[in-house]
Amino acid sequence: MKSIQVGLLGTGVVGSGTFNVLRRNQEEIKRRAGRGIEITMVADLDTERARSLVGAGVTVTSDARAVIANPDIDIVIELIGGYGIARTLVLEAIAAGKHVVTANKALLAVHGTEIFAAASAKGVIVAFEAAVAGGIPIIKALREGLTANSIQWIAGIINGTTNFILSEMRDKGLDFDVVLKEAQRLGYAEADPTFDIEGVDAAHKATIMCSIAFGIPVQFDKAYVEGITKLGAADIKYAEQLGYRIKLLGITKRTGKGIELRVHPSLVPTRRLIANVEGAMNAVMVQGDAVGTTLYYGKGAGSEPTASAVIADLVDITRLHTADPLNRVPHLAFQPNAMSDLRVLPMSDVVTSYYLRLRVADEAGVLAKVTGILAALGISIDAILQREADEVGGEGATQTDLIILTHDCVESEMNAALAQMQVLPTVLAPIIRIRKEELA
Ligand code: HSE
Repeated sequence: MKSIQVGLLGTGVVGSGTFNVLRRNQEEIKRRAGRGIEITMVADLDTERARSLVGAGVTVTSDARAVIANPDIDIVIELIGGYGIARTLVLEAIAAGKHVVTANKALLAVHGTEIFAAASAKGVIVAFEAAVAGGIPIIKALREGLTANSIQWIAGIINGTTNFILSEMRDKGLDFDVVLKEAQRLGYAEADPTFDIEGVDAAHKATIMCSIAFGIPVQFDKAYVEGITKLGAADIKYAEQLGYRIKLLGITKRTGKGIELRVHPSLVPTRRLIANVEGAMNAVMVQGDAVGTTLYYGKGAGSEPTASAVIADLVDITRLHTADPLNRVPHLAFQPNAMSDLRVLPMSDVVTSYYLRLRVADEAGVLAKVTGILAALGISIDAILQREADEVGGEGATQTDLIILTHDCVESEMNAALAQMQVLPTVLAPIIRIRKEELA
């Protein structure tokens, strides 16, 4: 049978990995897919780079639209990134009847509804395994492997840059700014790391997983997003003393009131496997009612790990290419006419537990006032840690850190408690609040 013909848009890190792995493993991939899969045309503004990657025999152009317009191309791989031209090209490729493979989480999290609707109307597939957690086949796991389950929650370390920074902060006892500079020097963080360190990249990925897990439209605008820029070495140290590690988690959870969708630093018990995922690695925990807790671990970025996911999609599409569109695996796991309108909850309705660090005057009655505020709002304390002032601020210090772990409460109640505690004259600095997930 004739090979499936693929057009590649973008020959950067993931594009080059995809080309190289496909070429290297072509025989084995062909045995799996049932026919050859060949990249026959590539587009990149840097045509020199593209040419040196693909060599002779593959058409190189600087015009992505020429790839889309080529009637021989069956699948277009979009590896340009961003919401701008990538969105236009993906929609044009769909309109031209091409299947699309993309690693573009930002595009799908923000414009997924439009893109999947266009693909369904045209009877083509938009595949995006590489968009979430790089080489980890988490989309496949959620959409197919766990299809028997009512998914209860997902919690993932889905941004390698921030996990690397948090690991370094913990290992070396350094503050965020220092480690970020080091991570940039080593190439672990980009020159403009905003999307990673502010939690946006993780929120894009969590948004996609949320849709697939619960059969709701992609709704990035409803996600609560908090990054790691305000974390201090002190909090990482105190968390450690209490038996926790701090991780940036992407969380989505089914509750009686709706769906939680949030990204923020979280204390995770050190005894959980996911708490021990270090450096730039990714891991995703999924809790299903039938299967229980499952954990997926691997490289969330990089040339060949991400190419592994892109090529898995190519093989899937090759196998499904001739299948009746109505009998394919649905883009968001649930049939388009069976999507739910379960609402994504505002952060004020989320229920979780908390780590609080208060810089307080070391004097009589401070603890009583603080715990009194929590008690009045019905917030139950799980543990308290207070260091001697000398230990925190040196000899003769009159201030100390008061660390409180709470049991579950509603975020709006915690906000009320924080507002009351913050104005106490004996609370001397902005209170640090980090959410806590037991992931039991
Ligand atoms: N910048 C991402 C990360 C990789 O640090 O994990 C691509 O999503």
